Amino acid sequence: MNQAARGSLLGIEHLGAENIMGLLKLARRMNPLKPRPLLRGKRVLLLFYEASTRTRSSFEIAAKSLGAMTTLVLSSGSSIEKGESLLDTGYTLRAVGADAIVIRHPQAGAAALMARYLDIPVINAGDGMHEHPSQALLDAYTILRHKKALKGLQVAIVGDIYHSRVARSAIHLLSKFGARITLCGPPEFLPDTALTLAPGLHIVRTVEDAVHGADVIMTLRVQKERLAGTKISLQDYVARYQMNMARLKLAKKDAMLMHPGPIIRGLELTWEVADCAQSAIVEEVRNGVPVRMAILAKALGKAG
Ligand code: NCD
Repeated sequence: MNQAARGSLLGIEHLGAENIMGLLKLARRMNPLKPRPLLRGKRVLLLFYEASTRTRSSFEIAAKSLGAMTTLVLSSGSSIEKGESLLDTGYTLRAVGADAIVIRHPQAGAAALMARYLDIPVINAGDGMHEHPSQALLDAYTILRHKKALKGLQVAIVGDIYHSRVARSAIHLLSKFGARITLCGPPEFLPDTALTLAPGLHIVRTVEDAVHGADVIMTLRVQKERLAGTKISLQDYVARYQMNMARLKLAKKDAMLMHPGPIIRGLELTWEVADCAQSAIVEEVRNGVPVRMAILAKALGKAG
């Protein structure tokens, strides 16, 4: 990790609290509606080996709002399909003039590997089941628009925690700032080893216990693409863990309902919950742009 190119953002686990706060403060000064040419002349390569809508479009809009050029490379339709290795693709993108690479990849550690061998910042836009640091930052940013501080906040994370890089990064970030985190999900999605991610985590088995008195409820998509070999009944999941209005009412009156997207209505949450007044789902997406502007500005040394 230490050898990664300067400016890289690989995960939240090894990021200091002051760096996190610095990025969140910088994001508050970023406004995509008032473009600033901070990154004029820079080239940001978006390299996506996995599907993405929010992350990809908001990194692109963030880069362009700062005056950078962007190029999108997808695994389908590129030489990756012909068998080119991750590092060779990285060297190629560097050679065509990339100043930074934003990468999403199905394998944990892919962004870190690239950052170790390239001399430009690498930003992890999701590596397998490992981390999704920009999502954790935009979620913290969103929470702090509504709550005074993260310290002491009661946060319930519900659903497919095991397969979720969003949950992993959120747990690292929120626990660094003293949030009280409760994890809830079926045993297949929540092994006891989850408790080793950070100190002070709790596991509860009923969603009612998890959301009771919560300030923030984070729901997660069931990661069907990572379920190979798991025998989980989605019907059972809906009955026991789906967020519905009755369950949401057990949380604090002003509790925020979050979800990183894409949401699958009728599975991890009901239509009514997705669209209710407490839902911050659309706001999370919107906040992704200034947060990613801050990440890119910082990565390319233009944070001033
Ligand atoms: C998440 C991801 O890709 O990890 N999506 C996102 O970036 N907002 C969550 C998911 O796919 O369920």
